[in-house]
Amino acid sequence: MKNDRYAPATRAAQALRMINEVTGAVTPGIELASTFARDDAYEPRQRYIYGRDGGPTVEHAEEVIASLDNAAATLLFASGMAGIACWLETLERGDHIAAPQVMYHGGQTWLHRIAARRGIEVTWYDQADPSALSALLRPGQTKWVWIETPANPSWDIVDITAAAEAAHDAGARLFADCTAAPPSTLRALDLGADIVFHSATKYMGGHSDLTAGALSLRDDSLLDELRSIRSLLGSVLAGFEAWLLIRGLRTLFVRWDRACTTALAIAEHFQRHPKLSRVLYPGLPDHPGHAVAKAQMVGGFGGMLSLMVVGDGSIAHDVARFTRVFLPATSLGGVESLIEHRKAVEGPHSVVPPQLLRLSIGIEDPGDLIADLAQALDRAG
Ligand SMILES: Cc1ncc(COP(=O)(O)O)c(C=O)c1O
Repeated sequence: MKNDRYAPATRAAQALRMINEVTGAVTPGIELASTFARDDAYEPRQRYIYGRDGGPTVEHAEEVIASLDNAAATLLFASGMAGIACWLETLERGDHIAAPQVMYHGGQTWLHRIAARRGIEVTWYDQADPSALSALLRPGQTKWVWIETPANPSWDIVDITAAAEAAHDAGARLFADCTAAPPSTLRALDLGADIVFHSATKYMGGHSDLTAGALSLRDDSLLDELRSIRSLLGSVLAGFEAWLLIRGLRTLFVRWDRACTTALAIAEHFQRHPKLSRVLYPGLPDHPGHAVAKAQMVGGFGGMLSLMVVGDGSIAHDVARFTRVFLPATSLGGVESLIEHRKAVEGPHSVVPPQLLRLSIGIEDPGDLIADLAQALDRAG
């Protein structure tokens, strides 16, 4: 069931129908071995040698994600940041990359703290302004353009096709962090990206009980290098987490649909609330990325939105303390809804305005979520 004969939702629900040949079990098995015995000729019995290189359960999860992303191959890591760090290890001294000014702060921190030390040059650009990109690319030197769409925490939308064209015209490749838009809505490789990255900790896992990262590759030109670096860094996903991830992927499409429907309902409900100056959600027609999102996110606008609370930031901080259904925690994409005061979490150097609250919408009753936010806003300030 790896090919396109069946729809992605079917392939995900049945985890590619990898039925256990021996027992007939319809749910995936789990392999926890760290080492694999050789045969009488002292050859590996299959291709497995040592757990740090991967194993059967990790490969099963990789095949499910590769199928959903329409990738030549997917590699899984112990966290999203482990995947990003492995990819960045492929860069060499003197290479240049373009990275967004507004993006997930962990990736940004890596670039701030480690890129210069490695002799990698970074140009920060405004991904909300597509015309800005081509001008700053350096043919021959720029190796990658990094985009994040929708981008934390403003949910700016990047036109992937246009970004890929700009990158390719300059001889560079496109790395797309699509953590907030999994393949239930967006297939970035089909739109021209060369690598699509997911923090699989989020929607793919979906239950806030694992950390994982996925790199899905358009072709296999970097596959061996990335696999070998992953092994050297010791950053492969473990068997149990891979199994949890497969379990999460099987319900990705229904969780996604539910989160999208509720997020849109919340965005519309609070759009004109007197204590809010703005609701940032790509599903709202007034969001600057709405038209592009509508064209490229075919399965819905997602479960992430941000509220801009009026005042100096103290009211926003209070709202995050006063919710009772929304949990005050970082992360996103799980079945439980989360609220986060991003500035407080990212620290004083954060460019996120103190008025911003980031919401990750789960699968709870939409009425409970709306009532909870309403009471927290009433109480605050
Ligand atoms: C957009 C984005 N990219 C990357 C990451 C890093 O992933 P992880 O926390 O799994 O290392 C995150 C985590 O929040 C994220 O939101």
